[in-house]
Amino acid sequence: MKNNFATNQQRILVTSALPYANGPIHLGHLAGAYLPADVYVRYQRLKKRDVLFICGTDEHGVPIAIAAEKEGTTPQQIVDRYWADHLDTFTRFGVSFDNFSRTSAPIHHETARAFFKVIYERDFLVERTIQQFYCESCRRFLADRFVEGQCPRCNKEGARGDQCESCGSSLEQTELINPYCKVCGKTPVLRQTKHLFLKLNEFQDRLQTWLDGKKEWKENVLNYCRGWFNEGLGERAVTRDLSWGIKVPVEGYEDKVIYVWFEAPIGYVSATKEWADKMGQPDLWKKYWLSPDTKLVHFIGKDNIVFHAVIWPAMLMGHGEFVLPADIPANEFLNLQGEKLSTSRNYAVWLGEYLSKFPADPLRYYLAAIAPETKDADFNWLDFQIRNNSELADILGNFINRTLTFARKQFAAAIPPRGALDARDEEMLQTLAEAPAKIGALFERYELRRAASAIIDVARFANKYFNDQEPWRTAREDRDKCATTIHLCIHAAQTLAVLMAPLLPFSAEKLWAMLGHSDNVHDQPWDGCGERALTAGHALGQELILFSKIEESQIEPELERLRKALAAMRGEPVEETKTTAPEIKPRISYDEFARVDLRLAKVVKAEKVEKADKLLKLELEVGGEARTIVAGVAKHYQPEELVGKMIVIVANLEAAKIRGIESNGMLLAAEDGQGRMAILSPQGAIDSGARVK
Ligand code: 2FM
Ligand code: ZN
Repeated sequence: MKNNFATNQQRILVTSALPYANGPIHLGHLAGAYLPADVYVRYQRLKKRDVLFICGTDEHGVPIAIAAEKEGTTPQQIVDRYWADHLDTFTRFGVSFDNFSRTSAPIHHETARAFFKVIYERDFLVERTIQQFYCESCRRFLADRFVEGQCPRCNKEGARGDQCESCGSSLEQTELINPYCKVCGKTPVLRQTKHLFLKLNEFQDRLQTWLDGKKEWKENVLNYCRGWFNEGLGERAVTRDLSWGIKVPVEGYEDKVIYVWFEAPIGYVSATKEWADKMGQPDLWKKYWLSPDTKLVHFIGKDNIVFHAVIWPAMLMGHGEFVLPADIPANEFLNLQGEKLSTSRNYAVWLGEYLSKFPADPLRYYLAAIAPETKDADFNWLDFQIRNNSELADILGNFINRTLTFARKQFAAAIPPRGALDARDEEMLQTLAEAPAKIGALFERYELRRAASAIIDVARFANKYFNDQEPWRTAREDRDKCATTIHLCIHAAQTLAVLMAPLLPFSAEKLWAMLGHSDNVHDQPWDGCGERALTAGHALGQELILFSKIEESQIEPELERLRKALAAMRGEPVEETKTTAPEIKPRISYDEFARVDLRLAKVVKAEKVEKADKLLKLELEVGGEARTIVAGVAKHYQPEELVGKMIVIVANLEAAKIRGIESNGMLLAAEDGQGRMAILSPQGAIDSGARVK
């Protein structure tokens, strides 16, 4: 089968769809156009290829103009806010753009106008006079979504001038029943106006021949295009009556702007130019855009297919100078808990919010593992938790942790020497040697699901190797063999660091440092990373937890928020769950209360109670007196978190034997209906032993 893998001779220019600058980034965005592109680019960098990753915000168009009017602010203020927000959240998620530009940048205005002019001068645009709604009260023509009304197909109110959200039909604004101006609510009138139309029909044959040569493209993309060709490509208006946008560079059109979907993809060119300027080599962009050796790859979501695979290539053909896309690996949609996302109803998981609570890599992993590559996928919080805990933490993290802990305890945290190899050792080495080519081929084909599972498979294999070789036994019986096993386990950990770098960049960096390297894991060569020799005696770094487990109490609030958003969307009453505090007990006298002797105690030592996952044994100091208590807080606190803390205990509670330990007192902690627990502590400096009343 013909493949579409990049080669060392090519320059690779990767773009992610330019996100609209009128709302924050959510997980649907990431799964479609950003995570797959970032993984691909990071992999190509490790392959030492010439790759450039370009993106930026799409800042024009009607929704942004409307949002500004509604907020009583300017479109520029809105897009400034979201440009900064997108750049910040993408960066924290590890999306490694070489340049994140914006379509309001002067360089884009110039580039888009020059492009438009070439298309006009080459006679691919035609002027047409059409009937369009005009609002006499706002004194302007109403472009696309500036007019709303009743849908002529499903009769629902609130259909927009270009599309009805309820039934999904695409509409002409003149078809709307009882149309009204979205800004002032008045009924508009029809007036004549002229627009420039792209003669897309003139490109149909060339486009079809070109796409016929793209046998290795994803089937969803090709099918979509075939549908368009079967209907026949018509003319498409590429100017709009708006003030926010890029002025049309044609006489007689000074008060109109270029249609946002015409200029946005030109943003890929402008963003490359801006990057070249920033590099101090203004002509560098040409190396990518003007050479047939460039592999131009557009990562997009499925709603962008027609623009990237039909209209944009037609524009590029009409313009004539630039390279055509080599691949457009569009993804399908991501649903959320079995329902469609709705950003306007807040039924979405917002990236910024996610990152304020969880690290980036587990999400990168999960979105890859469920990537909507051939059909829509579903983001499910519980599944996210399970896969993080059982795959990242229990397989990958556990392998790294047991290897490095063992190396520290048995070999003073240095790489032990490798001795004679047995058949299992040879098998381990072969698996590591073959992994880069195997996983690399999946990255080349944008197959994130299989790549994620292939990485975990290497760790799973390594865990099994560790078990089979029983280093804890050979440590006593055959030290050389034990050294060889641990040497190979560290070899596997080092290979895994490079293999996981494209998908789990933050954890790969952490692991690289844990292996005692001071250089950058992202600079390592992919080729041969499974065969790179280790130096015996090399000092390992500090062990850290690579992947923490995610607790149910962490995902419950997320589910609760989505349940509420869904109920609101469906107009159902919102049920409050588990928020009522338990009933207050019958009153007691002060004397009764005073019999309870509450004291401050300092935690001197804390440890888990063996075979009891809820219990911690705490050694306390209470006003100079030593005490031991057993507390049921292990699900909520790690022992080391409590050492040095001042807590409140019931000091005169009768002693009790818990798991063979005599507990002399009880600590005070609060628990709510959401399964959360908090240990009580004094505010301010105070001695242990002090009475609490
Ligand atoms: O669908 C979107 O979010 C568009 N802003 C994508 C534009 S991609 C490119 F053409 F600029
Ligand atoms: Zn109006």
